[in-house]
Amino acid sequence: MKQSDLSHLVQPFHVMELVKQANAMEAQGKPVIHLSIGEPDFPMPQPVQQALIKAVAENQTRYTAALGLPELREAISTYYRTAFQVTVPAQQIVITSGASTALMYACLALINPGQEVMLADPGYPCNKTFVQMASGIPRFVQTREENNFQPSWDELAREWKPHTAGVLLASPNNPTGTQLSITAMKDIVQGVTDRGGFTIIDEIYQSLCYDSAAQSVLQITGAPSAQWPLVVINSFSKYFGMTGLRLGWMVVPDSLVPAIERLAQNLNICPNTPTQWAALACFQSDSLNICEERRQTFKARRDFLLQALPTAGIEIQSTPDSAFYIYAKAPFDSERFCRELLEKALVCTVPGKDFSEHRGGAMLRFSYANSMHNLELAVERIRRFNLQT
Ligand SMILES: Cc1ncc(COP(=O)(O)O)c(C=O)c1O
Repeated sequence: MKQSDLSHLVQPFHVMELVKQANAMEAQGKPVIHLSIGEPDFPMPQPVQQALIKAVAENQTRYTAALGLPELREAISTYYRTAFQVTVPAQQIVITSGASTALMYACLALINPGQEVMLADPGYPCNKTFVQMASGIPRFVQTREENNFQPSWDELAREWKPHTAGVLLASPNNPTGTQLSITAMKDIVQGVTDRGGFTIIDEIYQSLCYDSAAQSVLQITGAPSAQWPLVVINSFSKYFGMTGLRLGWMVVPDSLVPAIERLAQNLNICPNTPTQWAALACFQSDSLNICEERRQTFKARRDFLLQALPTAGIEIQSTPDSAFYIYAKAPFDSERFCRELLEKALVCTVPGKDFSEHRGGAMLRFSYANSMHNLELAVERIRRFNLQT
């Protein structure tokens, strides 16, 4: 069968090969430690689980409105007001099937064929695919370790072309676990807006930050508008530990809502209904308390790895202060290092190739979505492996 050009453009995740190998080794009884996983090792909070069971028992299983359950849009609006002191009207909040669908809608609604969208290198590998699906061209902007792998407006401005449509960034970012400062964010949104472009900020790891209060670009701009042509992406996947429930949201200017609604009606009909009812329980204080405890646990793990990995021969130059990732220098070619580390030391990590065209071969990502006990064991294994190579 003849396949489309787009189907060939879409890249595989190289890490999946490594994870497949790790799983096969585990099936043979080898005690592999996974530091490769991009999802919390905690289940969804108990009150959310109960709300999900209740929603199914009460047959909340029909389609909802394409833009999502009005109650959930209101709850997110209230969350922005109470947690971030920003007013975001519920009608500007669209519920989606995870941040992934929100990113896809944003790209389809904003990019014309042949237009360029600037992405940070390193960054979340799927972003280029969302841009390509909209017939846009991803343009990677190299970031520097000493700038915590986040771009400045000056760096973006230098790459701006007449056919550049906008910028798509994540803060906190994957694979780096680093954020844009409020000042840098402000410069970027202002600079992009002055050039007539759009800014998409993916805040999926927003509340998983360890050295300062959680922040949102919306604290700078207020709700997106004609003055601030901005789309903010978020998700229940990470902070609320609901990866498999496939639920997220986006905040858009009023003028973009009808286009997003048409896309949602055609491409997805609506997000998962029982999950939307369950997500209402995320904003109850008991659920938020559970998530806060987990954030503290992640912080302790981050603190441990930040001091322990360098003693095991892993160099870290940036300051990962968010998400659950550390992006560090591999002692030698990262693909070979990660493969040998798995085969000889039974620790599964992710080579940088999936995240970066620029220096991916030199870098690797550690995920600390694993218990402290396993992290301690993993560091010991890495130390011994590095001594032997
Ligand atoms: C930066 C970033 N954005 C978006 C996603 C997709 O998340 P979701 O599960 O909400 O679709 C991920 C998943 O790892 C991610 O790391």
